[in-house]
Amino acid sequence: MEQEIRALKAEKNAVVMAHNYQPPEIQALADVVGDSLELAVKAKEASADLIVVCGVRFMAETAKILNPDRKVVLPVEDAGCPLADFLTPEMIREARRQHPDSAVVVYVNSTAESKALADITCTSANAVRVVASLPNETILFGPDANLASYVQRELPEKTIVPLPPGGHCYVHTGFTLADVEAARKKGGMIVCHPECPPEIQAQADRVASTGGMVREAAAGGNEPWWVFTEREMASRLRVLYPGRIFYEKPEAVCADMKKISLDDLRRALEAGEHEVVLPTEVMDRARRAIERMIAVGA
Ligand code: 13P
Ligand code: SF4
Repeated sequence: MEQEIRALKAEKNAVVMAHNYQPPEIQALADVVGDSLELAVKAKEASADLIVVCGVRFMAETAKILNPDRKVVLPVEDAGCPLADFLTPEMIREARRQHPDSAVVVYVNSTAESKALADITCTSANAVRVVASLPNETILFGPDANLASYVQRELPEKTIVPLPPGGHCYVHTGFTLADVEAARKKGGMIVCHPECPPEIQAQADRVASTGGMVREAAAGGNEPWWVFTEREMASRLRVLYPGRIFYEKPEAVCADMKKISLDDLRRALEAGEHEVVLPTEVMDRARRAIERMIAVGA
């Protein structure tokens, strides 16, 4: 199967991009593995005829929006992100009516329609930098309320309005103070994703995006890490830094990230399934917001 996939990649002039939460066998066959910001930047630069995004729908949509002349496919059609579904275009329009002097920052974990209504997008790697770059005092920020509270703590001079107030990712809200206590008993550093609840962030030694975790682990240190995010992140870190200890929480599984199998990847390459198709005017408006974010940087 692996040989077949490699041969198909060459035959179709395809590039395979995988998020850090993808199963190890998919990551091993990908040309690019990274966090959502890294995948977006690479998708924009890609010159391949076919871009296969192994991740969830918003990642494939972002690739299509940034590189609309390429064919972009998501190997499993219903690999979604339940967090993205918390925010609707109507919520954004209504919040803008209530806060006319605000700016709207939409996390990339969102639908293309929501991005099209944003002033700028952000990822967990650059949320603080993006918000700091805006002149507005009030920022409407969605859909992740925990990431919003992280940005608020880092930038107390801003007023961050979470949109909606309870938007969250079920994988990250699964981390509890009992997990912190168990980790502290065993020893090591706790590194958590900013989608974790504020009380977990407050107890962690570091808060970082998945790409930030890769970079910070590269900076060295021999202490074991407790990786408080989707469990595949720990296996990615173990591949990158053999000999170091990274603990995961076995129950922290994003079901949608685990939908893509090697067989799905093979079919996506062979038959070009399932192509991402979006209305041009939605893509044009969303592209402005995403490119503005890329210009701000990581
Ligand atoms: P990153 O941007 O940190 O890779 O996070 C994406 C995500 O879906 C987190 O749950
Ligand atoms: Fe969405 Fe959470 Fe899965 Fe990330 S881990 S893709 S935020 S459901």
